[in-house]
Amino acid sequence: MSKPKPPISRTLSLFLFLGILGLVASKSTIEPCSNSDSCNAMLGYTLYTDLKVAEVASLFQIDPISLLTANAIDISYPDVENHILPSQLFLKIPITCSCVDGIRKSMATKYKTRPSDTLSSISDSIYSGLVSADQIREANSISDPSVLDVGQTLVIPLPCTCFNGTDNSLPAIYLSYVVRAVDTLAGIAASYSTTITDLMNVNAMGSTSIKEGDILAVPLPACASNFPRYSADYGLIVPNGSYAITASHCVQCSCGPGNLNLYCMPASLAVSCSSMQCRNSNLMLGNVTVQQSTAGCNVTSCSYGGYINGTIVTTLSTSLQPRCPGAQQFPTLIAPPSSVSKDSIFAPAPAPQSDGRGTSGTIAPTSSVVPSTGSLPGVTANAPSGSVSSDASFLVKPLARAPTILLLALFAELMVSML
Ligand SMILES: *[C@@H]1O[C@H](CO)[C@@H](O)[C@H](O)[C@H]1NC(C)=O
Ligand SMILES: *[C@@H]1O[C@H](CO)[C@@H](O)[C@H](O)[C@H]1NC(C)=O
Ligand SMILES: *[C@@H]1O[C@H](CO)[C@@H](O)[C@H](O)[C@H]1NC(C)=O
Ligand SMILES: *[C@@H]1O[C@H](CO)[C@@H](O)[C@H](O)[C@H]1NC(C)=O
Ligand SMILES: *[C@@H]1O[C@H](CO)[C@@H](O)[C@H](O)[C@H]1NC(C)=O
Repeated sequence: MSKPKPPISRTLSLFLFLGILGLVASKSTIEPCSNSDSCNAMLGYTLYTDLKVAEVASLFQIDPISLLTANAIDISYPDVENHILPSQLFLKIPITCSCVDGIRKSMATKYKTRPSDTLSSISDSIYSGLVSADQIREANSISDPSVLDVGQTLVIPLPCTCFNGTDNSLPAIYLSYVVRAVDTLAGIAASYSTTITDLMNVNAMGSTSIKEGDILAVPLPACASNFPRYSADYGLIVPNGSYAITASHCVQCSCGPGNLNLYCMPASLAVSCSSMQCRNSNLMLGNVTVQQSTAGCNVTSCSYGGYINGTIVTTLSTSLQPRCPGAQQFPTLIAPPSSVSKDSIFAPAPAPQSDGRGTSGTIAPTSSVVPSTGSLPGVTANAPSGSVSSDASFLVKPLARAPTILLLALFAELMVSML
């Protein structure tokens, strides 16, 4: 007969057990599916090192152009595919989400192992926590993870959801977002212009607590297309504030900021493309003419209807609207990023004002421990004012954190050895 353990020790081991489980099992949102339809989805990806645009695209086997347009980066920038994107940059990666064994996921990404890769370096670093080492091991039936052959091709299963391309009956595309230690649910909701309630519903969460490494499905408002099922770009959906290039790089479709109607026109890089003129008219794809009459505004537009059998389908339509539409607005494009602002790495996502849903208790305190550079005279005295580049602060902060990380690591090790 074993002696009953003293209560304190029992509580402690339960705590340790849960703590270690917590280190291993992160939550992610699982969407069951039954049909073979796929959809477009996004991954929230943080670069583990400096990489060229084309290198990031090849990690996920996607078109570099689609990577750029999904992030509202201007593709007319010279030699943009060889532009080097900075380590720690956060990118949205457009992928195709399929139905595999009754669950939504993407199995299209393959990774060729290099010397010194381990399953955990591939999962935590190269794919920034979007996949776990165990998931890679299972997907590739690896019996001994300690022996990875260099040059071995691994399937990288990646999380994605479709939810029918809608959120609260409005068109949406879902971003798989890996929670960082600094994140709060309120902060994530605010950064993606959604609400805590919506995030909780989408992810079937019972409470607002989230943990580093959890993967949330975040709905992004988007412009949907309604091309016929047999068109090559069937299901095209473009998130608000970005654009996409389709029809063999001939057509460019953008979304927002004024409304969520997909707007397509000839792409700037279009070279040898089939005709983009609407039949029986002199209007080109994207052209809109308006005619004010006593009955209202007679709007004629030449719009894009999908890429079918190598043909750009155009549709001429006329409608009578109460008011004439203003000039077409376009999302703001950015130059390819070369540096990462320190806020996007270490600061918590902006906390919302208050969405009046009684969630104020979960909002992270807004007072910052680290005063922002230059806001306090005492701080600027320590650093040459005006010379602190974002690179410098990027270096300083991890150093300042190092002792804490070391302590945490030692503590974790201690916990493990005590088991
Ligand atoms: C999916 O969305 C379409 C409209 O986009 C709607 O007609 C259909 O009923 C929805 N299906 C489900 C299962 O919600
Ligand atoms: C789309 O984005 C713009 C800012 O780029 C924002 O003002 C607008 O409210 C957004 N629309 C929707 C429906 O989210
Ligand atoms: C029609 O569209 C073409 C291509 O985008 C553009 O160059 C032209 O200016 C437009 N014409 C009118 C009348 O809007
Ligand atoms: C609207 O304009 C089109 C072409 O400009 C014309 O064919 C059509 O009759 C007009 N409709 C109305 C109601 O004015
Ligand atoms: C596309 O082309 C194939 C043969 O070239 C034809 O059988 C098919 O009907 C075409 N599809 C459409 C939608 O036109």
